[in-house]
Amino acid sequence: MPVIAVINQKGGVGKTTSVVNLGAGLARLDKRVLVVDLDPQAHLTYSLGVQAHELDLTIYNVLKGEASLEETFVERDGLHLVPSSLDLSGAEMEFAMEAGREFLLRESLAGIKEYDFVFLDCPPSLGLLSLNALTSAHEVYIALQSEFLALQGLSRLLETIEKTRQRLNHQLEITGIIATRHDGRKVLNQEVAEKIREHFGEKVFSTFIRDNISLAEAPSFGRSIFEYRPGSRGAEDYMSLCREILQRRAA
Ligand SMILES: Nc1ncnc2c1ncn2[C@@H]1O[C@H](COP(=O)(O)OP(=O)(O)OP(=O)(O)O)[C@@H](O)[C@H]1O
Ligand SMILES: [Mg+2]
Repeated sequence: MPVIAVINQKGGVGKTTSVVNLGAGLARLDKRVLVVDLDPQAHLTYSLGVQAHELDLTIYNVLKGEASLEETFVERDGLHLVPSSLDLSGAEMEFAMEAGREFLLRESLAGIKEYDFVFLDCPPSLGLLSLNALTSAHEVYIALQSEFLALQGLSRLLETIEKTRQRLNHQLEITGIIATRHDGRKVLNQEVAEKIREHFGEKVFSTFIRDNISLAEAPSFGRSIFEYRPGSRGAEDYMSLCREILQRRAA
């Protein structure tokens, strides 16, 4: 069961959109998927149509040791979700002095066995929550927007991943680069895409996620792209990425 952290400390690059739609897409391909919202903004939770006031328990309670992951599960669109809430925003401070604070999530994931994929949606920072994702994951997907400054901050991210691998989680490996919000008509986007390929080679998925308004609209309806606009380019791209992920793993 691969646990995959979807990460980039840069905000708004398509991490959450990718977790929602890879999760929902793989579920449509009969895979059992768990998605975990590790962001105090709770965008993954809202994107799947779950309202904070419906929730008794969230990832915050799990990290505090007050609940198991299973107790927080919400089922949506063929997926299991571990929701987040604003409570999590104090977590960095709250756990800052706690021994083993990097391993709060790993412990709770250890008992989870029945999934084909677990995706961890990271917040836009490299603080304790992202670190918990990196110590819990087997693999990392980096989401990169093929835009100006996309590669800025990348060396710090790679360094954090490498240090985590050496010190806390030897099996951790970057296995995928997702190029998001791509506009092939823009020369700049093409140039950035080439730079990303130069840097990461084979790790870059050959499916690029194009800029698509339906992908931006779907979260406000609490739906994945496959429910909201199954005929859209966004649905096409994410389904193609799901198939590519499965093909790579079969190879
Ligand atoms: N391919 C796309 N085409 C158009 N809009 C997109 C696309 N991917 C994401 N968006 C929109 O861009 C915004 C940022 O995307 P998203 O929330 O997935 O990024 P993020 O990396 O999770 O952000 P954060 O760092 O704040 O968690 C959202 O409004 C989303 O709907
Ligand atoms: Mg997000």
